Amino acid sequence: MDRLKVGILGATGLVGQVFAYFLDRHPWFEVTYVGASKASAGKRYLDAIHYKLVSISDEVGELIVQEVKPDKVPKDLKIVFSALPSGVAKDIELELVRRGFTVISNAAPMRLDDEVPLINPEVNWDHLKLLEVQRRKGWRGTLVKNPNCTTAILTLSLKPIADMYGIRKVIVTSMQSVSGAGFPGVSSLQIIDNIIPFIEKEEEKMQTETLKIMGKLKDEKVKWASFKVSATCTRVPTLEGHMISVFVETEREVNMSELIKAMENFKSKPQELKLPTAPERPIVVRKEKDRPQTRLDRWIERGMSVVVGRLREETALDRGVKYVALGHNLARGAAGIAVVIAELMYKLGYMEA
Ligand SMILES: NC(=O)c1ccc[n+]([C@@H]2O[C@H](COP(=O)([O-])OP(=O)(O)OC[C@H]3O[C@@H](n4cnc5c(N)ncnc54)[C@H](OP(=O)(O)O)[C@@H]3O)[C@@H](O)[C@H]2O)c1
Repeated sequence: MDRLKVGILGATGLVGQVFAYFLDRHPWFEVTYVGASKASAGKRYLDAIHYKLVSISDEVGELIVQEVKPDKVPKDLKIVFSALPSGVAKDIELELVRRGFTVISNAAPMRLDDEVPLINPEVNWDHLKLLEVQRRKGWRGTLVKNPNCTTAILTLSLKPIADMYGIRKVIVTSMQSVSGAGFPGVSSLQIIDNIIPFIEKEEEKMQTETLKIMGKLKDEKVKWASFKVSATCTRVPTLEGHMISVFVETEREVNMSELIKAMENFKSKPQELKLPTAPERPIVVRKEKDRPQTRLDRWIERGMSVVVGRLREETALDRGVKYVALGHNLARGAAGIAVVIAELMYKLGYMEA
């Protein structure tokens, strides 16, 4: 079978190169286009990456970077993965959709739009049905978003809790690595020996995107979940991997051993379909008292699992559970799930071959 041609926008950045890592020798997709800003255009891809995080083979590495211009993006691309900065993403992505492309994007604009599916594959793959609304409204192409990195980690960890006990409140504090801020991100003078207790717009994203993702699809609309989310987001001096401390008030009493078993056995559509980039264990539960740890646990299952530990009964809220979770911001939180979304769309027939 010929592989489908795909492109990466913002390929030279942190998320972009993790796209290249997941798409390298992919069984169904072949990267034939890498796009970035004018400054990188004309360079060999491997030479244009600012900060190398993962190893990338010559198949993708030898491509020549193109300046992203919607009218110059090759028409034979079946999927365009976007890792563009928020400030430029909206216009470029919408123009590509107008030209008939399928765009799967990491950038924040339009994540909350009614007709745009915001997908964390194991949590709400069924929201892809919104693509039928896009079609009916006459869109030539397709736009799918994946969530903010920390929200992706939070919602996967919440899914079994919501299914079993119902959720009333979530209180969460994030400890987010520096790679979450892109390149060059925060300066070394700001972050070494320091924690910064504020990340622009991050708390709002966690508080809204969580409710859209955990919402239910009804009459081709997402009815947002109605529980309350209160978030504090901090930047800490780790390189990759975001840790979150979570307190959940549930509707019903939690049985801890039953919940641990449900988290360990949690599987969803991507596992059922055996998608190439989906982790075998979306949630990995660590029972040691000092896990998860960022350095030890962030790359479990190629960074696609969320590692949950310190599961305890919640004592200050009415009833519920508290825990710590860790996820790789560039894999589970960005490029990895965008690739799983593409695999889902391919397998579920949302893409013509
Ligand atoms: N980092 C994370 O953990 C994370 C997680 C989830 C979502 N996101 C989102 O993903 C996107 C990418 O983030 P990142 O961390 O990978 O950022 P990054 O490392 O700063 O990379 C940005 C990329 O966009 C390109 N670019 C910049 N301006 C451009 C323009 N005008 N036209 C075309 N390309 C342009 C850059 O190309 P040059 O190299 O040529 O400058 C680079 O390839 C952002 O929207 C971010 O919010 C990031």
